[in-house]
Amino acid sequence: MEPTRILNNEHRVIEQVLDCLEVMARRCRQDGRLDGASAREAIDFFRNYADRCHHGKEEQQLFPMMEARGFPAESGPVAVMRIEHEDGRALIRQMEGAIEEAAAGAEPACAAFVRAALGYLGLLRDHIRKEDHCLFPMAEQALSTQDTQQLGELFARADAAEFGLDERQRLLDLADRLAERFDVARGRVESVYGEPSRCG
Ligand SMILES: [Fe+2]
Ligand SMILES: [Fe+2]
Repeated sequence: MEPTRILNNEHRVIEQVLDCLEVMARRCRQDGRLDGASAREAIDFFRNYADRCHHGKEEQQLFPMMEARGFPAESGPVAVMRIEHEDGRALIRQMEGAIEEAAAGAEPACAAFVRAALGYLGLLRDHIRKEDHCLFPMAEQALSTQDTQQLGELFARADAAEFGLDERQRLLDLADRLAERFDVARGRVESVYGEPSRCG
C-alpha cells in the first residue's frame, strides 16, 4: 500500500474517534457532567494513535523526505502541518487537565473541556482535510518511486519495531469500542498489517 494511503486510512480512524469526542462534548454541555472514563479513553487514543503513531510517521518520516525533495522546512505547507500538530498537543493537555473536575460536575471544568474539545475537533478535521486533499497529493507528485518504496519501509519499521503492532491494534480496538458506545459510524479502512479490513 502507498505510504500516503496508509496515512489516509489512519485519518478515517482518527475521524471516527473525533465523532465520539463530539458526542462526549455535547453531552457534557447538556448534562453538566463529563463521562470521565470515555474521555480518558479518547485522550489515550488521540495521544498514542493520532499523535505518537500517526503524526510520528508524518513528522519523522514523511515530512523530512518532502523537505529533502525541496519543500521548505520553515514555511509553507509542511511547516504549517508541524505547527498544527503542536497546537493539537496543547489542546489534548487542556482536555486532559479538565477531565477529573468535569467528571465530578464542576461547571468551569466542563466548560474548559468542551472548549478544548471543540478546538481540537475543528483543528484536526481541518488538518486532515488539508493533508488528504493538498499535502499528500503534493508529496505523491514530488517523491520518486524509490522514495515511495523507502517511505513505505520506514513506515513499516516505525509501526512494527518502534510503535508496536500490538499497541496499534489495542488502539484500533479502543476506537471501535468508543464508536459502539457513542453510536458513531466506523471509518472505512483497509487492512495495513493484517488487521481485519473494514472496507465493507
Ligand atoms: Fe498531520
Ligand atoms: Fe495526518
